[in-house]
Amino acid sequence: MGHVLINNLQKEFVERRRASRNSDNHSRFRATVPVLDNINLEFHEGEMVCILGPSGCGKTTLLRIIAGFDTPTSGNVLIDRKQVAGPGSDNIFVFQHSGLLPWMTVWQNVELGMRRMEDIKIKQEKIQEYIDMVELEGFEHLYPYQLSGGMKRRAELARALAVNPDMLIMDEPFSGLDFLTHMKMREEVVNMHQFFGKTTLVVTHDIDDALIMGDRIVIMSGRPSSVKLDRKLDFPHPRNFEKEPGLSELRDEIFFMLGVSYAV
Ligand SMILES: Nc1ncnc2c1ncn2[C@@H]1O[C@H](COP(=O)(O)OP(=O)(O)OP(=O)(O)O)[C@@H](O)[C@H]1O
Ligand SMILES: [Mg+2]
Repeated sequence: MGHVLINNLQKEFVERRRASRNSDNHSRFRATVPVLDNINLEFHEGEMVCILGPSGCGKTTLLRIIAGFDTPTSGNVLIDRKQVAGPGSDNIFVFQHSGLLPWMTVWQNVELGMRRMEDIKIKQEKIQEYIDMVELEGFEHLYPYQLSGGMKRRAELARALAVNPDMLIMDEPFSGLDFLTHMKMREEVVNMHQFFGKTTLVVTHDIDDALIMGDRIVIMSGRPSSVKLDRKLDFPHPRNFEKEPGLSELRDEIFFMLGVSYAV
C-alpha cells in the first residue's frame, strides 16, 4: 500500500485580473497561470520522497492534488492503482502545522486517530506508546495552547502514527522551528519512517533535510514546474556528509541546480 503514480499531470490556475490599472474600465479578463507542466513520477511503497524546488513552483499544489484536495487540469494521480477522486481518504494523513484540535488534550488528539479501535486496553497502550515515541510523556493532559511549537508538531506526529495511514504527506514540516528542535524532529521522522515503513512525501526548502531523509529526491524547476531531477538515494542511515562523499557531491550538484554556485 502507498504506491503513487503521477501521469502527465498539468495544473493551471485561472486568475481574474483588472484589464488595466489606470483604466476606468472595470472589466476583468481571465488569465491562466500554468503551474505544473507535465509531471510524471512514481513513488514506491514505503519510500520517503523529499521534494525540493523554488518558492512558488507548485510543490504545495502537487501535494494537494495527490491528497485529493485539488484537481489537475489534465493528467491524473493513481494511488495503489486507483485514481484519486477527492479528499477524505483514511489512507492518507496530511501533516499540518495546526492540525491539533484546540479543545482536546494531547491524549485526546492522538486518541482521535484511533477511534475505530475497539479494545480499550490495547488502544490505551498504543496511545501511550506513540506519545512516548515522540517524547511527550508527562504532557498527555495538556491542551495545544499549553505546548511549545516543537511539542505541537510532535503531538501531530503521534496523531499521524495513531491514524496508521498508508501514506503521510508533509508540507514543510520543520518550518519555523529552532535549529535543535528541527534536528530532533527530523530524526524522529526518519526513525518513524524506518520503523513503520509508510510512504512519506515531504516538501522541504532545506537541501540537507532532503539528502539526510530521502530514499528519493525530486527537484522541481521554476514555474511552470517540471521535474528537473528524480534520483534514488542509496545511502545508509544515519547519513553523514563527511562520511559519504557521494552525498556531498550530490549536495553541490543540487545547490548548483537551484542557482547557487557554491554550497554553504
Ligand atoms: N488557489 C489558487 N489560485 C490561484 N493561484 C494559485 C492557487 N494556489 C496556488 N496558486 C499559485 O500557484 C503557484 C504555486 O503555488 P504553490 O503554493 O503550490 O507553490 P509552492 O512551491 O508550494 O511555494 P512555497 O515554496 O512558497 O510554499 C503560485 O504562483 C501560486 O500563486
Ligand atoms: Mg508551499
